[in-house]
Amino acid sequence: MSKKFLISNWKMNPVEVKKSKDIFNGIKDTAARSKKSEIIICPSYLHIPVLKGLYSGKKIKFGAQDCFYESISGSYTGEISPAMLAEFGVEYVIIGHSERRYLWESNKVVNAKVRAAISQGLNPIVCIGQKIRDNEGAFFTVLRKEIEQSLKGLNRNDLTKIIIAYEPLWAIGKSCKEAIDPEDLHTMKIFIHKVFSENYDRETALDIPVLYGGSVNSSNIKKLIDGDVDGFLVGRAGRDPEEVSEMLKALNK
Ligand code: PGA
Repeated sequence: MSKKFLISNWKMNPVEVKKSKDIFNGIKDTAARSKKSEIIICPSYLHIPVLKGLYSGKKIKFGAQDCFYESISGSYTGEISPAMLAEFGVEYVIIGHSERRYLWESNKVVNAKVRAAISQGLNPIVCIGQKIRDNEGAFFTVLRKEIEQSLKGLNRNDLTKIIIAYEPLWAIGKSCKEAIDPEDLHTMKIFIHKVFSENYDRETALDIPVLYGGSVNSSNIKKLIDGDVDGFLVGRAGRDPEEVSEMLKALNK
């Protein structure tokens, strides 16, 4: 897998549409030029159509930060369906981010959302990650369960649409020094592929992109690339055009 993903999750930021436009305009030219990376911008639902209107190229893709588990429409007050996202040209959707799992989402809910998203042609970016890093390695069991239950019932073809974002909770929202070590990251990538290979087959498993997220920015991204991941899901640094430009430079080397 040669192309590296840079997924920028803007979370519930910024409030003002103007600020969103400024960030996007600051990112768009560098992003459009980057050859060896795939950039996916995930702003708030409300800002997606506005930002899409500022860009007619194909290089930058748009993602949502969540979707509902009923795929098309119905009496579900306040929800956004995968079909609605597809209607707006959204191609990716983050599902099971730890900040949502923390609110209420179980692996079962994540699984229903993943299936709904795939049924509407979206590519789910499925987040997994353990809360703590215990020395006995119990977190491997947690991760296995998250993978197996969140992706339950998917066939090999469905898996070609999936991106896995490994985001250990202890590394999110910290300083760049507190991100994972590249060696540990490499081990986690091997483990994630191993779980897929046991549930499907080696070839299918190795084709699934595994990204890392948690306190990534331009000062640690070069080091983290050595963890052999297929890209990064970034929070704070992904809303800073200069940071994005530096991170893309690193990914394009
Ligand atoms: P961070 O967020 O890059 O600000 O740590 C990552 C995430 O929550 O996906």
